[in-house]
Amino acid sequence: GLPARVRIHEVGARDGLQNEKATVPTAVKAEFVHRLAAAGLGTVEATSFVHPKWVPQLADAKALFPQLQDIEGVHLPVLVPNERGLDRALDLGARRIAVFGSATESFARRNLNRSVAESLAMFAPVVARAKDAGVHVRGYLSMCFGDPWEGPVALGQVVRVAKELMDLGCDELSLGDTIGVATPGHVSALLTGLNEAGVGTETIGVHFHDTYGQALSNTLAALQYGVTTVDASAGGLGGCPYAKSATGNLATEDLVWMLHGLGIETGVDLAALTATSVWLAGHLGRPSPSRTVRALAGA
Ligand code: HMG
Ligand code: MG
Repeated sequence: GLPARVRIHEVGARDGLQNEKATVPTAVKAEFVHRLAAAGLGTVEATSFVHPKWVPQLADAKALFPQLQDIEGVHLPVLVPNERGLDRALDLGARRIAVFGSATESFARRNLNRSVAESLAMFAPVVARAKDAGVHVRGYLSMCFGDPWEGPVALGQVVRVAKELMDLGCDELSLGDTIGVATPGHVSALLTGLNEAGVGTETIGVHFHDTYGQALSNTLAALQYGVTTVDASAGGLGGCPYAKSATGNLATEDLVWMLHGLGIETGVDLAALTATSVWLAGHLGRPSPSRTVRALAGA
């Protein structure tokens, strides 16, 4: 059966804006996050405390994060690759962080300047210190279904790295289809493999990119498997600057349309969310790629 409620982990302000050519002013980002929270999203990933030269679009994290502190009752996780990033995030009072590993060596090298083993070693003290500070830790795992340099990724390899990431002490695991190549059977197979390895479905979130138009089908397969946390990006913004051929994430509006149609609660006000994406598209100078945004906005 399908769940009664789904928790949407909104990534537009991070995964979306990190990939925009134009750097969005800090004030616009702050208003974007406020509007997403007001639209009923309970988890709004805010920014990344990464090296500013690696992701210049999010180099204003230190200025932005304090501007979000008046938002109540909404989780505002931030990405943190290493202890330097953790220090920066904790200094500003972050209560939820995410480390981000890769199932493949090629992407680990390009995204983190480390091998898979070296990146896990880099995360170990980050997760340990965060847990000691009572901070919730999400572990992202990229390239779970395919890699632009390596092609298909062996399921056993994904399960092994996922297990190592969870063994560091992460509270939650987000399975990234970074380049959007997954199809529903592949999703069920990976969830089965993870379950067999002892990674419980209740700790798993799915993170689909919509490159091949499969993100909603993949989401439905995951829901049927018992997953209740789904990552999505308002207006379908997104991609990854270090993964060629990654396009936008599953659009939050498309996801909400499907979930509400299925009678699944999200807490999201779809009209307010769509208005937010239309407003942001005005700042970005191009229309949202989301079919639902276009349909509802009459564009
Ligand atoms: P590095 O060059 O190996 O860094 O980069 P380092 O450890 O050698 O340090 C070099 C200098 O950087 C030092 O300064 C550090 O202090 C500084 P120096 O002593 O030379 O003056 N530094 C920092 N400064 C600020 N904040 C920091 C930080 N760390 C070091 N956190 C590093 C290694 C991990 C830092 C770099 O590779 C990096 O920042 N990578 C981030 C890449 C990224 O953000 N990618 C996008 C997110 S992942 C994604 O989008 C996928 C996802 O959506 C899921 C999916 O779709 O699959 C999550
Ligand atoms: Mg992503």
